[in-house]
Amino acid sequence: MDAKLAKDLNKQINNELFASYLYLSMSAWFEDQNWPGFAHWMRLQAKEELDHAMKIFDYLNDRGVAVILDGIAAPKTTWDSPLEAFKDALDHEKQVTKNFLDLMDLAISLKDHASQIFLQWFVTEQVEEEKSTGDVVAMLEKIRGSVGAVFQLDRQLGKREDD
Ligand code: FEO
Repeated sequence: MDAKLAKDLNKQINNELFASYLYLSMSAWFEDQNWPGFAHWMRLQAKEELDHAMKIFDYLNDRGVAVILDGIAAPKTTWDSPLEAFKDALDHEKQVTKNFLDLMDLAISLKDHASQIFLQWFVTEQVEEEKSTGDVVAMLEKIRGSVGAVFQLDRQLGKREDD
């Protein structure tokens, strides 16, 4: 595999692990703020991000590329409101989408067809990731100021199933 693509895919493992750490930090904050449903949703999200990191980990191993793990940056630990936390999560997902589009552009320019097919899954997944987080942001914006409605949403997100 091309050295730059190998380096950028290694970097993406780190980005996914950071995302996992960030969402786990959000989950911890939601627990502390007594929002169990939001905490549950973020905890599952953290688990998904770990799965994403492992997909890239396995792909690099399958291609005979050394996986080099780097330090994971410390995530933010407090937010002003559930809305602010979910907005941060959405911003993060948009950044991750950009990372995958850049990786795809690189794989295309290198004519690395196997990597293009591998990255396709993530490009599709990011549509879903931005939608699910964006939907929560939109709902929180709509019910801003109504504690009762936020409680209802918390209960609803607490029903998210592990997939
Ligand atoms: Fe791994 Fe939420 O993107």
